[in-house]
Amino acid sequence: MSRFLSSEASRLNPYTPGEQPQDQLYIKLNTNESPFPPSPKVLEAVSQEEIGKLYLYSDPACTVLNAAVAKRYHLQSENVLTGNGSDEILAFAFRAFCGEGRDVAYADITYGFYTAQSALFGLKETIIPLREDFSLNVEDYLEFPGTVVIANPNAPTGMTAPLPGIRRLLERDPNRVVIIDEAYVDFGGESCVPLLKEYENLLVVQTMSKSRSLAGGRVGFALGSAELIADLNRVKYSFNPYNINRLSLLAGAAAIEDEDYFQACCKAVQETRSWTVKALKTLGFTVLPSCANFVFAKSDRLSGETLYRRLKDRGILVRWFGRERIRDYLRITIGSQKQMEALIEAAAALLKEGN
Ligand SMILES: Cc1ncc(COP(=O)(O)O)c(C=O)c1O
Repeated sequence: MSRFLSSEASRLNPYTPGEQPQDQLYIKLNTNESPFPPSPKVLEAVSQEEIGKLYLYSDPACTVLNAAVAKRYHLQSENVLTGNGSDEILAFAFRAFCGEGRDVAYADITYGFYTAQSALFGLKETIIPLREDFSLNVEDYLEFPGTVVIANPNAPTGMTAPLPGIRRLLERDPNRVVIIDEAYVDFGGESCVPLLKEYENLLVVQTMSKSRSLAGGRVGFALGSAELIADLNRVKYSFNPYNINRLSLLAGAAAIEDEDYFQACCKAVQETRSWTVKALKTLGFTVLPSCANFVFAKSDRLSGETLYRRLKDRGILVRWFGRERIRDYLRITIGSQKQMEALIEAAAALLKEGN
């Protein structure tokens, strides 16, 4: 820390992203990217001609992208805000809907960025532990008076919170905003988007980083009532009005319009996930039930840390959190079938080697 750092910044709790090696030496199963390239329509949209227009600012209203997202979800553009990845949207939402007199609650085992955001905005957070089996029980949130954030499916567990429970949460206190982070919903979760028509206190956040193969494009979106979206825009225009660059605006619109490609990618990931779960269980791993593009698994023969390090030595990167409750688990992204076969082969060899 320099001597110039503000006391506010010294209290931050920055998020640690998964390793992003800049060479291609690893089989990279650590940050839940898609194993597939973006849709061919994305490649067409990001043309030389469009690159030549980079001297001009991007559209701050994200008109074309918002309209494409709205159309895909049978909503109006006023119900959509797009952002520089869903991390940015979450930051806008934390700023907009939490603060003095409005604390925030989320699970103990969930997306680490929520804690970073709470610290950034000086929020009072309430951490509500998942149940013993890592399930999220909505009962535990019903009486919480502030904003609730739920990743559904959750990360890093991949487990889902059933919709009837979320409905109860929305109904119990209509003056409380419930933010449902659906980063992984396209891989088999049940989306809350259909509930938007009924509840004006619901904000759904999604990303194009996973199911639409645009992690490097940084495009996420929020869906909600026109009023909630206007609140998010208030924060956006106080922070970064041109939040999405020209190329990502085009890439995002093309990706969301290519429904066939999206469906095919999601199906392939789900099939490879089933194969991987079966293969891990055959090796004796405990695998949590996942509806995401990753699995959360542990072996009772080698510790999470040992497995993580030895897989890395063999050129396979997975995510190990080294935190209480989940120290022995690895979060393994579902890559291509070939990558998963390499993972299983390496895991089998490591278990055979033993300690
Ligand atoms: C639960 C969850 N929400 C949001 C994000 C952020 O995704 P992005 O900023 O790439 O849209 C992630 C990223 O891994 C995530 O795991």
